[in-house]
Amino acid sequence: MLSVIVPTFNERDNAPELIRRVLAAFASLDEPAELLIVDDDSPDGTAAAMRQAAAEHAATDCVRVIVRKRDKGLAKAVAAGFEQARGDVLAVMDADLSHPPELLPDLLAAIHAGADVAVGSRYVAGGGTAGWPLLRRIVSRGAGLLARPLSPVKDITSGFFALRRDCLDDLHYVPRGYKIGLELFARLPGRRVVEVPFTFHDRTRGASKLGGAIMLAYLVQLAGLYRARYPRLIGYLQFGFVGLLGMAIDSLAFGLAYWYLGLKEFGPSLGGFFAQTLSFLVAARVNFSLNAAWTFRERRAHASMSVFIAVSLVGFIMRSLIFESVIHLPVASGPAAWSALVHTVSIEQIALICGVVVA
Ligand code: GDD
Repeated sequence: MLSVIVPTFNERDNAPELIRRVLAAFASLDEPAELLIVDDDSPDGTAAAMRQAAAEHAATDCVRVIVRKRDKGLAKAVAAGFEQARGDVLAVMDADLSHPPELLPDLLAAIHAGADVAVGSRYVAGGGTAGWPLLRRIVSRGAGLLARPLSPVKDITSGFFALRRDCLDDLHYVPRGYKIGLELFARLPGRRVVEVPFTFHDRTRGASKLGGAIMLAYLVQLAGLYRARYPRLIGYLQFGFVGLLGMAIDSLAFGLAYWYLGLKEFGPSLGGFFAQTLSFLVAARVNFSLNAAWTFRERRAHASMSVFIAVSLVGFIMRSLIFESVIHLPVASGPAAWSALVHTVSIEQIALICGVVVA
């Protein structure tokens, strides 16, 4: 049995044609099928319009409308549909007919031919997007490329797909944001996936909900998936990023403390030591907090502040020694000293960060 899940939000005007075309697709199948509309309590009366359209086709037995009032969102609506579905094959598509219901039999046939997942794909031979401007095509392709290391699916951001229900058994996935397909495809390595071409036609009724916030949510979702797939690599990158940020904070704090206070009040040597101590403490504090809150947030235990400071002291001592030698160079006055200092400080810190990351 096929269960088609359609998440909806303010899709009233698409109800008559959606129901008509999905039912026509069902009529061409050799097995029973149901349509689950999962509506997030749309204020435009989508749920009532869907029920009415189903009644007009005398199809209330195979069209179910679920209204959710809490914990809203596209991916969560689809996950709720998975839970309520009765079929052994689950399909997901949009309500706005940008995904043609006529492709449903092909997706189902691909599953019966042995695929675990069949993706309606714009980016395989025979697929495409009708009338998209260049910028939109670039953004869509770029979003797909960003996700490429996570899955071989060419149209990984597709919201049109079918999968065997047992793919979800024991699958830990997070229904977040807009891209439930990405979430599933990235977490189903080893499953047989085929892509079935289709042409994406923009909606003619209602409005897309895709906006800046959803694009940002996509990037956060990607970061989470990369972290789950490559925890060590992402950990190193985060650690390196925090280190570079700390380097910038350290250099800035040092410059301010040295030129505006230390040099005037204590002279080059003692003033340098004062500024270095201050900037070191500020940067170490920021780095430690960022690493605890972000880099190592999933680890139950991580280094204490005192251990972190103790390790960082190695760098601090190296830098102090280099600083002392720099200020005693003959060129060490005015802008030349500043330039030499910044370069020396930066090189030493980069070396330290690389050393820690490699270790
Ligand atoms: N229940 C629920 N809750 N449904 C929602 C919500 C929500 O918060 N937001 C959107 N939907 C429904 C819409 O009503 C529509 O049926 C479907 O989800 C897709 O929303 P659109 O706003 O039409 O998305 P789109 O056309 O810009 O993008 C779609 O196509 C892309 C290309 O395949 C989505 O499916 C994208 O995920 C996909 O990348």
